[in-house]
Amino acid sequence: MPVTAVVGAQWGDEGKGRIVDYLAQKAHMVIRYQGGDNAGHTVVNEFGTFRLHLVPSGIFNPHTVNIIGTGCVVNPDTLLTEISTLEAAGVSTRNLYISNRAHVIMPYHQLLDGLREQARGRSAIGTTKRGIGPVYSHKAARLGIRVGELAYPERVQKRLSMVLPIVNRELEVYGHSPVKMDEMLALVKQWQEALKKRIVDTVPMIRDAVNKDRQILLEGQLGVMRDLDWGIYPYVTSSNPIAGFTPVGAGFPPHHVGYVIGVVKAYSTAVGAGPFPTELHNELGDRLRELGQEYGATTGRPRRCGWFDGVAMRYSSWLNGYTALAVTKLDILDSFEEIQICVGYRLPNGTVTQEMPDVPILEQVTPVYESWPGWLTSTTHIRTWEALPENAKGYLSRIEELAGVPVRFVSVGPEREQMIAREMDLRA
Ligand code: GDP
Ligand code: IMO
Ligand code: MG
Repeated sequence: MPVTAVVGAQWGDEGKGRIVDYLAQKAHMVIRYQGGDNAGHTVVNEFGTFRLHLVPSGIFNPHTVNIIGTGCVVNPDTLLTEISTLEAAGVSTRNLYISNRAHVIMPYHQLLDGLREQARGRSAIGTTKRGIGPVYSHKAARLGIRVGELAYPERVQKRLSMVLPIVNRELEVYGHSPVKMDEMLALVKQWQEALKKRIVDTVPMIRDAVNKDRQILLEGQLGVMRDLDWGIYPYVTSSNPIAGFTPVGAGFPPHHVGYVIGVVKAYSTAVGAGPFPTELHNELGDRLRELGQEYGATTGRPRRCGWFDGVAMRYSSWLNGYTALAVTKLDILDSFEEIQICVGYRLPNGTVTQEMPDVPILEQVTPVYESWPGWLTSTTHIRTWEALPENAKGYLSRIEELAGVPVRFVSVGPEREQMIAREMDLRA
């Protein structure tokens, strides 16, 4: 049973949590392979409605092992709050583990994220202010603290004696008071006590699951357009959501990834700054936002809304090698008489391209649209492909064509069972 990666195919918030929750009903293991609590993965099922930030979306199946993988960054306070919320709702978290090699988000990472954003002024990235950029920078600079090191306060103290003077100098530039060593060490002690039974070496666990041919799901955070290398730099996150990062972030040889499911919203949304060619600055955009309840699951910010972007889809398809697509929120388009799909970008020189240009050009393109007739009927109760309105099938088939990948799942509502699963080999 090859490993299945579930990856965001657009600008994030495609519905990854919802798809992982659905697929995890049969999974032995779900691993988050990158990102931190910048994620907001909404899951609606028999336990209630949850916005998961760090806990993998397989947590609702009591038989599934859930791992916050090595490629992740962990804010222990957020994690502890999330665990309490889940337990209070009757969801067992006894199968939740954290890689000892994941990095810890310290309070100063969060502080720096907010202060740096403020200092950027009009050039702000619009980060979630969760400390993601600062913690991954420290990881790369060999100044980070790993989850497994919480058990060794003297090691942490030694690292902090290098880090804090640097951090405090930057804080001083922003006119902020310094971070104190004893307060950091007190937190380290507290976090170790609260999390120690969940901190593990994930290598034997994942190796064992792979060798026993168990079903393993990998849960991505964000989407390709905000990937550190392939997204709209610098308006990106500081990790790699794309499928190619999964073996690094989870920890297994790359040839085990057999299936890559691209999660695609039936239109486009983005939170934060940066070029987003199909954004609608009109009442259609407002209508998508209101019907789709497009407000950030982590920050509550209104999401920017626009039509489906076939150029971004094609780019995303190539980079991730999807074996199948899961299209979400089809129902949000139910009442639109006309639906547009962007099939090309017009460049400043007047030519049209299907290639994704880099940011300086992307900021100047205008989308070339193709118009599709709406289906003007509710799809929320439909459970088979055959029962979908012809115009909806036509629209989805066009998405398949632009992506060069079959649509295997169609989501027609936020609840677990509001799903159309087509019978096909995921590799078809
Ligand atoms: P994620 O970050 O990729 O997991 O996505 P988010 O949870 O941030 O955003 C997806 C939003 O759409 C959530 O509010 C979901 O409950 C909701 N959602 C997911 N699939 C559907 C669907 O098919 N129809 C509707 N109406 N809502 C959906
Ligand atoms: P999920 O997993 C949507 C965006 C931020 C900002 C940029 C960098 O729910 O899809 P960061 O805090 O990572 O340094 O912010 O990325 N962003 C997201 N947008 N969904 C997310 O996660 C996001 N995580 C970060 O808005 O533009
Ligand atoms: Mg989200």
